[in-house]
Amino acid sequence: MSKLMEWINARLPVTSLWEEHLSQYYVPRNLNFFYIFGSLALVVLINQILTGIWLTMNYTPTAEGAFASIEYIMRDVGYGSILRLLHSTGASAFFIVIYLHMFRGLLYGSYQKPRELVWVFGMLIYLALMAEAFTGYLLPWGQMSYWGAQVIISLFGAIPVIGNDLAQWIRGDYLVSGITLNRFFALHVVALPIMILGLVVLHIMALHEVGSNNPDGIDINLRKDENGRPLDGIPFHPYYTVKDIFGVVVFLVIFCSVVFFYPQMGGYFLERPNFEQANALKTPEHIAPVWYFTPFYAILRAVPDKLLGVMAMGAAIAMLFVLPWLDRSPVKSMRYKGWMSRVALLVFCLSFLTLGVLGIVPPTPARTVLAQLCTALYFACLILMPFYTRIERTKPVPDRVTSR
Ligand code: HEM
Repeated sequence: MSKLMEWINARLPVTSLWEEHLSQYYVPRNLNFFYIFGSLALVVLINQILTGIWLTMNYTPTAEGAFASIEYIMRDVGYGSILRLLHSTGASAFFIVIYLHMFRGLLYGSYQKPRELVWVFGMLIYLALMAEAFTGYLLPWGQMSYWGAQVIISLFGAIPVIGNDLAQWIRGDYLVSGITLNRFFALHVVALPIMILGLVVLHIMALHEVGSNNPDGIDINLRKDENGRPLDGIPFHPYYTVKDIFGVVVFLVIFCSVVFFYPQMGGYFLERPNFEQANALKTPEHIAPVWYFTPFYAILRAVPDKLLGVMAMGAAIAMLFVLPWLDRSPVKSMRYKGWMSRVALLVFCLSFLTLGVLGIVPPTPARTVLAQLCTALYFACLILMPFYTRIERTKPVPDRVTSR
């Protein structure tokens, strides 16, 4: 065995990669619950790719055949229903995991120097993931797939001068049709997964270059022992591999319970109108995107002008990209930031969640006012960040990590 490893190592740096990224990769010893979501995102990504490959074997990407092929997968293909529900539940699970992963970043200032690129690659993954979910949602060719795509693509029509041509170019037709379905299929199964995988590699490479942050926001590389090992660090393997495996098992228990017993999640993971085949002549009573898009959809609807609404929606995402440069605090973690940052994070999260709920329900005048208020608060928390993070009083950061 050791001779074989020697032979391989002379040709491919397997052992040195293992050491550099796992057994000799030092990670802060105080990582808590919130640090599990990176590994969980990897698990869900693998689930999506594997179940996606098997679904593709039986799926027909045409307007005539798509809906029926999903029925065929659900009823006749061996284990087809499990494969399909693992994939559809996996899409929602992906966003739950990613939102918690991002929240951890906000809580502990993980985006701050020197992890700006880790954050920017993360945001690019988030964008690609939204495109992946959007293109995937058209594939079952149900009523909501069809009308959701129709609404979102027509938003591009709001762009002055080139808008209508652009929308037509995306659809490949005057309205959403089999041509659109075909190109979305190509993007969903080939282009976007390759992009996401490449970005995940860059995300983790950038992280391993600087090392993980931690709930105290302390740089563990500042204090090392005589062998050059961080005093507050432990090797990723075996300590965090074991901890992460425990987290993955707990996650899989919850995930599989949903897949087997509650896959529609009351119409939030699989929307009811999508059990009816797409019909270009019949608009559903109420069109709403899947839950993970609804905060941005609510921002779009909160602004009375279509073009300004599209711009506000774009700005809501664009501002998250520049977060590392908006936060001017001398400390990273919320544990040592002042009350203004804490209140701002709370207000930001509550506005985002409220917008998420408002994007699901049909609009009324009162709900529109609430959505406008939440949109204003969402932007205020980000735009005012350079000011409140600079002027607030922070707490002293300890020299060594605490084990809370
Ligand atoms: C497919 C999606 C993603 C995967 C597989 C992934 C994977 C990971 C992994 C394995 C880690 C190290 C473990 C951990 O700290 O949890 C990590 C860290 C990190 N990720 Fe992600 N990530 C994804 C998406 C994102 C997104 C969308 C963002 C934010 C926009 C993001 C921001 C970060 C940050 C800031 C860190 C460093 C955290 C720290 O050191 O405190 N990631 N990611």
